[in-house]
Amino acid sequence: AEPGAELQVALVPSYACQRHTPLLHHNTVLTDALSILAENAELTDNEGRGVAFRRAAALLKSLPHEIRGMEQLKGLPCLGDHCLRVIKEVLEDGTCSEVETTRQSGQFTALKALTGIFGVGAKTADRWFREGIHTPSDLQRSGHTLNRAQQAGLQYYDDLNRPVTKAEADAIGRIVERAVSEVLPGAEITLIGGFRRGKNTGHDVDFLITHPDEGKEEGLMVKVVSWLEAQDFLLYQKTTRNSYLESKDGPARPPSNMDRFERCFSIFRLSTHNGVRMTETDPHSHFSVHPHDSHPTPQTCRTVDVLSREDSSEIGQPQSSHSQSWRAVRVDLVVSPYSQFSFALLGWTGSKLFERELRRWAVHEKAMTLSSHTLYDSKQRQYLRANSEEEIFALLGLEYVPPCGRNA
Ligand code: GTP
Ligand code: MN
Ligand code: MN
Repeated sequence: AEPGAELQVALVPSYACQRHTPLLHHNTVLTDALSILAENAELTDNEGRGVAFRRAAALLKSLPHEIRGMEQLKGLPCLGDHCLRVIKEVLEDGTCSEVETTRQSGQFTALKALTGIFGVGAKTADRWFREGIHTPSDLQRSGHTLNRAQQAGLQYYDDLNRPVTKAEADAIGRIVERAVSEVLPGAEITLIGGFRRGKNTGHDVDFLITHPDEGKEEGLMVKVVSWLEAQDFLLYQKTTRNSYLESKDGPARPPSNMDRFERCFSIFRLSTHNGVRMTETDPHSHFSVHPHDSHPTPQTCRTVDVLSREDSSEIGQPQSSHSQSWRAVRVDLVVSPYSQFSFALLGWTGSKLFERELRRWAVHEKAMTLSSHTLYDSKQRQYLRANSEEEIFALLGLEYVPPCGRNA
């Protein structure tokens, strides 16, 4: 082999958690192609293939230069035969036939549209697709019984498929901060998920809530949600209580690596710029952190009017034609005990692949089990404590990767 090849093997490690993966990188044409195949695999119950495509894409995202020819890939990890075929075709022809066929296939388009409905996963989408339901409108006409999440998903389909901006995430953050400080002074909230990694947009906004006095955080989610509901900030919410303590008594372990924090999947009603009521707390904000009905102004009437029209609206009608006064935004809230905060922070910052790689590294290279609660060392047979993300990386024998480098 050429000396250069060995050098590359040494320079590019195979686990994504050993590398810095920036948000913006040099190989988007290739990673877009691989992401379509990953997405398709995930939608058609081929998780293993999905992960393989995701790992290959993550590898390319971490490279400091653009790949222009196959010879530049020599010695790089994570690139199986299938991925290499795809990359070769894109480099030579500009596109890959398998990717284009997938992108245009009725199945892929339908499954994407259906899983784009909040509350609809790949399995449900696939079942509906086989029944001839290909779009949200088909679903609405079908008369299927939908659960609460799916009903909300249909009702706010357009809003929830429009990316959330950083400004909107910050506005939500101010609302959650107010809620938290009202119900439990001293509680702390942290922006997690994609926005913590430096993304400019997201499909939702994620927050982690804790309190320095361990135990004070118990039952906090219910109170926060009640406050938000009383102020009319929530269009939908489903709260799951903490099952961590309960599961200690019984033999039952939680399924897979789902964590056991108090959490809430929600849809917020976010007031948008309307030129009338902007500024009670922040003169530079385009958003009011106050609920729509806190002041009996003519604006309130308009908002109510918009609401009732929205309720009777048909799917597929652009919501933007109704009004600009508010939009629906998906928000995830998680409450963690203070002693587990660093693990929760690391576990909820993502990306999904980065998290998966961290756990894989822990098990296979260190004989440890990492979760969003703890790190367990199987050789020492003990749980390892950590007070920061930096400490967790150190315990795992990894160099620290800051959130902006976790965009694998
Ligand atoms: P966008 O929201 O699409 O911008 O990206 P994101 O990275 O924020 O994704 P998402 O909001 O879906 O999830 C944020 C992070 O939380 C992900 O990296 C996941 O690893 C993590 N996460 C999501 N759901 C769960 C869960 O049920 N359990 C645990 N432990 N982690 C989760
Ligand atoms: Mn998110
Ligand atoms: Mn989320």
